[in-house]
Amino acid sequence: MQVVIVPTPAEVGRLAAAKIGHLVRGRPDTVLGLATGSSPLAIYAELARQVAEEGLDCSQVRAFALDEYVGLPPEHPESYRSVLMRDVVEPLGMDPSNVHVPDGSAADVAAACEAYEAQIAETGPVALQILGIGANGHIGFNEPTSSFASRTRIKTLAPQTRADNARFFDSPEQVPTHCLTQGLGTILDATTLVLVAQGETKADAVAKMVEGPVSSMCPGSALQLHRDANVIVDEAAASRLTLADYYRYTFANRPAWQRFETPRG
Ligand code: F6R
Repeated sequence: MQVVIVPTPAEVGRLAAAKIGHLVRGRPDTVLGLATGSSPLAIYAELARQVAEEGLDCSQVRAFALDEYVGLPPEHPESYRSVLMRDVVEPLGMDPSNVHVPDGSAADVAAACEAYEAQIAETGPVALQILGIGANGHIGFNEPTSSFASRTRIKTLAPQTRADNARFFDSPEQVPTHCLTQGLGTILDATTLVLVAQGETKADAVAKMVEGPVSSMCPGSALQLHRDANVIVDEAAASRLTLADYYRYTFANRPAWQRFETPRG
C-alpha cells in the first residue's frame, strides 16, 4: 500500500487528480470508478480545472459509480446519479451515456445488481477506482462485516452512515435505509485504487485500514490485499498512523521510476 501524507485537503485532491489526469491523457477512453460524498470533491474540482485550463479531454472517459441509494428516484437531487451528473459529468465534459450507476429504483434488485456486474465485466476492468472511507471503515457502502468476496448487492446502511449523510438531506429520516453498492470483491478487481481521506473524523478509520488487521470489521482494510492501492490523506486524517514518518520518508525517497505522483506500491 502506498500511503501519501500531504499538508492540506486541497493538496489531497490535487495529487489524486494529477494521477487521474495522467491516466486519461494516456488513454482517453479509460474506465474510472467514481465515488460520491465529500471526500472526492476536491479531485473533481481539480480535474474540472484541468479540463477548462489545460485541455484535458474527458469526453470519451467511461465510468461506473460505486453505489446508489435505494428508494430515491433517479431525478432526486441527492440520488448518486444526480450528484455525479452535477459534480462530475457536467464540469468534466463527460458523455452521460458513458456513465453507469446501479439502478436503485429497480423492481428486481438482484437482477439490477447482476446486470451492473455484467456491465462492468464487459466494459472493464476499471482502470482506476476513486474511493472515500466512512468513519466506520466502510468503502463503497460495504459496511462492517461485509464479505471481502462480495459483489454488487443491496446493503442496509449502518445507523452511523445514515447520520453522517443526513447533512445532504432536509431531515435525518429522509436518508434512505438501503443502497446498492459494488462489493469489496468488485472494488478489488480495479487495476488501481486511489482512496482519499481528509480531516480528523477519518483518522481512526484510516489507521485501522492501513495499519490494523485485515478484517471485515474494517472493510477498508481490504485495500491491504490489493497490489496497487494508493491512500492519499491530509495531516489530520493521518494523525493516528503510527508509521506516518516512515510513509513521508518513503514518498520523499521514492525511486525515480516511481516519481509520477502516487506510485504503484
Ligand atoms: C460514496 C461512498 C462512501 C463514501 C464515504 C465517505 O460513493 O461510497 O464510501 O466515500 O461514506 O463519505 P464522505 O466522503 O462524504 O465523508
